[in-house]
Amino acid sequence: MTDPQSWSFETRQIHAGTSPDPTTGARALPIYATTAYQFRDSQHAADLFALAEMGNIYTRIMNPTQDALEQRVASLEGGVAALAVASGQSATTLAILNIAEAGDHVVASASLYGGTYNLLHHSLPKLGVTVSFVENPDDPDNWQSLVRDNTKAFFGETIGNPKGDILDIEKVAAVAHRNGVPLIVDNTIATPFLIRPFESGADVVVHSATKYLGGHGTAIAGLIVDGGSFDWTGGRFPGFTTPDPTYNGVVYADLGAPAYALKARVQLLRDLGPAISPFNAFLVVQGIETLSLRMERHIQNTLTVAEFLEAHDEVDRVNYPGLPSSPWHAAQQRYAPKGAGAVLTFELHGGRDAGQRFVEALELHSHVANIGDVRSLVIHPASTTHSQLTAEEQLTTGVTPGLVRLAVGLEGIEDILADLEAGFRAAKTA
Ligand SMILES: Cc1ncc(COP(=O)(O)O)c(C=O)c1O
Repeated sequence: MTDPQSWSFETRQIHAGTSPDPTTGARALPIYATTAYQFRDSQHAADLFALAEMGNIYTRIMNPTQDALEQRVASLEGGVAALAVASGQSATTLAILNIAEAGDHVVASASLYGGTYNLLHHSLPKLGVTVSFVENPDDPDNWQSLVRDNTKAFFGETIGNPKGDILDIEKVAAVAHRNGVPLIVDNTIATPFLIRPFESGADVVVHSATKYLGGHGTAIAGLIVDGGSFDWTGGRFPGFTTPDPTYNGVVYADLGAPAYALKARVQLLRDLGPAISPFNAFLVVQGIETLSLRMERHIQNTLTVAEFLEAHDEVDRVNYPGLPSSPWHAAQQRYAPKGAGAVLTFELHGGRDAGQRFVEALELHSHVANIGDVRSLVIHPASTTHSQLTAEEQLTTGVTPGLVRLAVGLEGIEDILADLEAGFRAAKTA
């Protein structure tokens, strides 16, 4: 049989991690709605608990539907293993806590989704993990200048939400590795169809699978993908090189390439518990089967919308790395040559008032706090997704008062443009 890793992206998005159900012959992925799994005998049970044999114990840490999702995303990203969790937020939380504990430090790009900024700015410091934010992440020297003796990881978004900046993965990974720490990237907006961060030196990828992987606005889900190439034995990560008393003294670094994903599963998912439901894992797998097709159409529609907005009298500026006017256009062509994703922002002449009127006048666009749906979505970030940030913090994440964010959907482009035109008519009355 052909080696599945030699298959194209389009083939793997449909086949990786699944085969006909051995018991029933079901061709589509079954939803294994079970909490626990019958052990063959006492020895089998003991071996599973001792990690001497891998297998299903309890759905909080493992489930066959979840496993199919993990294998599929690991394959698409080119990682050695993945861990599916309850949300993108829990993926980021676990990805960091897997290597940083109280007293440790993380360096992160300031251009982040508002929820991630809150997690890094407020919640992680309450657990003793402090974070320094790189105000201009385009310059690798700015990352280097924030490194401390207790730094354990670098973190950034491959395409920033909502700023639309493209992380220079290769350069930032090189600085991280020079300092003996891994680069964790959030690849939510790009998806592995557009950017494959491991190929440029990233070590861990996280996703909000709630967005383009699931693709239909139906499930909250997250993934952590282990690139498998980071050396955890350099001395900075005792959690990988000293015996874990809670797992019969296992030393994770001795387990080989997927040490990071395994540790996250058997320590953090076990203890903190943000498990994905098998039903949501199924929905995300279903979504991934059309990922490349959806992304191609998302990009085609988004580019048309971006050009339409840029030519519009009522618009001050458009932020979309797919446009030649974007400061990140060259980086987009290098890192995401197939396209810049489907999230863009723009500033109306009339500022905050005009922005709010515009959003309220749209009918086809849904006014929701989400991206990555087949439907076109719109939001005013300053009063919603980024409202917990101070005005200054909002500016560092790219959010100005009159900014409108669109997540361009898959409807007919003429209908999307007509709806936006109706929004402009309303904005003019501001
Ligand atoms: C880039 C990015 N990362 C992470 C998240 C958090 O994901 P979730 O809502 O699935 O927890 C979001 C949510 O909007 C996001 O846009």
